[in-house]
Amino acid sequence: MKYGFFDDKNREYVIQRPDIPVSWTNYLGTKDFCTVISQNAGGYSFYKSAQHHRITKFRANSIPLDRPGHYLYLRDQDDGDYWSISWQPVAKNLNQANYEVRHGLSYSKFKCDYKDLKAEKTIFVPLADDLEIWDFKIKNEGALDRNLSLFSYLEFSFHEIDIDNQNFQMSLYAAGSSYQDGIIEYDFYYDPRKYHYFTADFQADSYDCLRDKFIGDYRSEANPIALVRGICSNSSKKGGNHCAALNKEFNLAAGEEKRFILILGVGKREKAQKMRKKYSDFNLVDKEFNKLNTYWEKKLSFFQCQTPHQALNTMLNTWNPYQAETCIVWSRFASFIEVGGRTGLGYRDTAQDSLATAYLNPQKTKERLIQLLRAETKAGYGLHLFDPDSFDPEAATIEFDSPTVVPKADPESMIHGIEDACSDDALWLVAAVCNYVKETADFDFFEKVISYADKGEATVYEHLKKILDFSTEQVGATGICKGLRADWNDCLNLGGGESAMVSFLHHWALEIFIETANFLNKKADFKKYSKIAAKVKKACRENLWDGNWYLRGITGSGNKIGSKENKEGKVHLESNTWAVISGVATKKRGIKAMDAVDEFLYSKYGLHLNAPSYTKSDDEIGFVTRVYPGIKENGSIFSHPNPWAWIAEAKLGRGSRAMKFYNALLPVSQNDEIEIREAEPYSYCQFILGKDHEDFGKARHPWLTGSSGWAYQAVTKWILGVRVSYQGLIVDPCIPADWDQFSVRRKWRGAEYKIKVFNPDQVEKGVKKITLNGEEIDKIIPQQKSGSINNIIVTMG
Ligand code: IFM
Repeated sequence: MKYGFFDDKNREYVIQRPDIPVSWTNYLGTKDFCTVISQNAGGYSFYKSAQHHRITKFRANSIPLDRPGHYLYLRDQDDGDYWSISWQPVAKNLNQANYEVRHGLSYSKFKCDYKDLKAEKTIFVPLADDLEIWDFKIKNEGALDRNLSLFSYLEFSFHEIDIDNQNFQMSLYAAGSSYQDGIIEYDFYYDPRKYHYFTADFQADSYDCLRDKFIGDYRSEANPIALVRGICSNSSKKGGNHCAALNKEFNLAAGEEKRFILILGVGKREKAQKMRKKYSDFNLVDKEFNKLNTYWEKKLSFFQCQTPHQALNTMLNTWNPYQAETCIVWSRFASFIEVGGRTGLGYRDTAQDSLATAYLNPQKTKERLIQLLRAETKAGYGLHLFDPDSFDPEAATIEFDSPTVVPKADPESMIHGIEDACSDDALWLVAAVCNYVKETADFDFFEKVISYADKGEATVYEHLKKILDFSTEQVGATGICKGLRADWNDCLNLGGGESAMVSFLHHWALEIFIETANFLNKKADFKKYSKIAAKVKKACRENLWDGNWYLRGITGSGNKIGSKENKEGKVHLESNTWAVISGVATKKRGIKAMDAVDEFLYSKYGLHLNAPSYTKSDDEIGFVTRVYPGIKENGSIFSHPNPWAWIAEAKLGRGSRAMKFYNALLPVSQNDEIEIREAEPYSYCQFILGKDHEDFGKARHPWLTGSSGWAYQAVTKWILGVRVSYQGLIVDPCIPADWDQFSVRRKWRGAEYKIKVFNPDQVEKGVKKITLNGEEIDKIIPQQKSGSINNIIVTMG
């Protein structure tokens, strides 16, 4: 069963049936103002922090689904019939009203066709201002003139996620609203920084600032009393629950079209007045909307491909980078699953996200890298979860004395000891920093001095050494890295046990650092860390091979995890993929290990994280053994490590196998079986329920997951094989043999590279010839002049 399709030309996903069993969301806003919105216009907005500066309220994980939202209602004044422009909340019979939703890049368009009235509401956040625009257009396609009335509705939040959900003793009496000159102003008595407004380009005929007046007793957003009566009750108050309902009556002659602009913004009435004036100009609204398109086109123009695989093109050219960018900007703050309870950054998540976004958003990537470096302890481990503002000397100190404002948290309170450190967290940062420099040529970054979370400061380069030294020291008896509180797998809590994955990661990070030291001509470091890398490789090769695949770890009392000797959790995805990616596995072992992955972990929806799932709890292994079989870390198809398998296969030269794994997880592949997948077909999800669960194939937790960044990197860098190095651009694809050719447009350091890859011998890997602007060159394409357009022809064979 399908609910929509991909419109590649407009980079939109078009939802033709809004009655999807779950919410399909989109993200509006590119910088500080963000709205997460569903196909039914349910959702919420916040400014900078989904935890501390919320704008609209949302009753998450509730029924009915997605309430409240950013709604527009229409009422026919002649017969009293009313409906919403999004299908919910009024939910007209789908046989009588026609709805279409277009989720585009940072905007959503809701269309409703009902009783000869074609209405369209486009919601977006312009680049220029911290506000959300509702651009409403309506056309009378019937033969009769119509008397209509428009109503807006949204519910204001009490600013703090906690205050929205608990202890209303003060909040109910501290939030106030007022209406004046077409503007609803919402304030919070305790905190003069937190004003919001809602306005429109018209003078309202009636309004409501009080939720309960607009909705009415024992009613809901589906049947507000204001719509029944056809007029609001002009309510506002100091104290109470507040909403933004503006009502406008208008006539629409047969064939006539009208347009109204409504605005939700951050700030006081004076700001609202200015913005109202500014955006009452339709040309300006159009201009700002087009600017958003230009913004995305520019971003996406850094990498565009045409391959024989249409769904891959759709994903890679639009949705995958869009999701990766969403993750670097909003981290894990705000979705319909992560509804804003934490502002902090997860160390490993952000470090991995930033690996994928260096060319999509170099400024934000750099900002995130600096935040992570500041949250590195002098001992070399990262603070697992931290508020970046606390370590930022320039971040505003919030001094307001009120129960609703959380002051900038004391950094000391976030500094945890090694007992709470995760063994992988900071290792990802080595690759992320080096990748950023390779992409941007910001070589000075290595010399930038940045503080440690606890004491002292050092250059970025020295920070990276500390990270590597920490993992060198934190090893068990066999020389394999300790698991500590957890490694990448939050639920594998090995404590004093050892993690194969982390030793592989350590080796990977060392190799990247050695390449960097060599490039920077740091001879002593090159020598020192090369020696360590060799030692790590040896320890891994001697201790982690289980005969047909790699172990996942060793418990504190010496039991193997991920071994043929185990009945449960016999084969794990992370260790086998990283053995190959890190360069530790010999080709022979790598092939065996990845064959085991195919045999034990593959399913048509992707690769399971481990199999068989655990059914008996074992605290030496960790929390993973206490999770239901087939769910999350216990035997689900955990998306995030799936791309590691595509990379591993690409490194082994098996393009068809890489593509088999890619196709299985590809959200687009499930577009026609939403009755199984349920979640968005345009977003990677955190996990898909595994074969040991009755809901095998259902996808859960869309959007904010490391899978987007890794999927993007795996395909761009390893399958299509276009990646940057200190020396130049590399094109080294690994594709299915039946691909005859593909092309990539890649921008790098100001120049454009138009790459055409031909595969006359139908190989999966191997390049026999490269030409740059007609001249044959050796393996690496040197950086070209900024502004130049260059033709690269690559012949595989
Ligand atoms: O790696 C973690 C991530 O940091 C948070 N979500 C779950 C992943 C796997 O445990």
